[in-house]
Amino acid sequence: MRKTLLTLALAGMTLTAWADEAKLTDAARQTAMGMIKQLGGELQKQLASGGPESAISVCREKAPAIASELSRANGWRVTRVSLKARNPLLGTPDTWEQGALMILEKRLAQGEKPETLEFAQVVEEPAGKVFRYMKALPVQPLCTTCHGAGEAIPEGVKARLASDYPHDKATGYAPGMIRGGISIKRPL
Ligand code: HEC
Repeated sequence: MRKTLLTLALAGMTLTAWADEAKLTDAARQTAMGMIKQLGGELQKQLASGGPESAISVCREKAPAIASELSRANGWRVTRVSLKARNPLLGTPDTWEQGALMILEKRLAQGEKPETLEFAQVVEEPAGKVFRYMKALPVQPLCTTCHGAGEAIPEGVKARLASDYPHDKATGYAPGMIRGGISIKRPL
């Protein structure tokens, strides 16, 4: 009897933890999707109205600005990272983020759709428990203007990228690949 109760209590705790994590994941997903939508819209608009060179500023200034706005508003840390960063200062993943992006790459190779890929985990850090979340950023056709293989990138953009990002690793991508991810870290 006592054993049954104990088992039930433990199952209850596991269920609660699971429900909490599902809620945290939902909130993180909403935030990441909002950012993807907003950025995609801005990029599309700027590419159409000002051309590819002028759209560089969307990925360079708007994206980090949206990320820090979301970070401030929520008390989370929202960033964009990649295994092949263009801007190593902002785009380099930490150890957890590298692992998460590698898991997403593996799941992509196993046939999962890039736009559904996400990975979440509660992690113990020296300063306490944190919730971590990564949502894949799939390469869409419009991304290849600045992240595609050689001939996909217009000469003017190539020249700007070469002078602004001497350590650029973020080219050679094709639609359907993962460009990187939106990473969210939230203290619990
Ligand atoms: C007009 C050019 C342009 C287009 C189009 C573009 N990007 Fe970028 N992207 C950049 C630049 C420039 C940076 C470097 C930003 C910085 O300085 O932090 C960047 C950085 C990034 C980063 C941050 C990590 C890193 O590599 O530094 C991600 C992730 C990213 N882009 C994803 C995308 C995705 C996904 C698309 C398509 C939806 C896209 N980009 C379309 C120019 C572009």
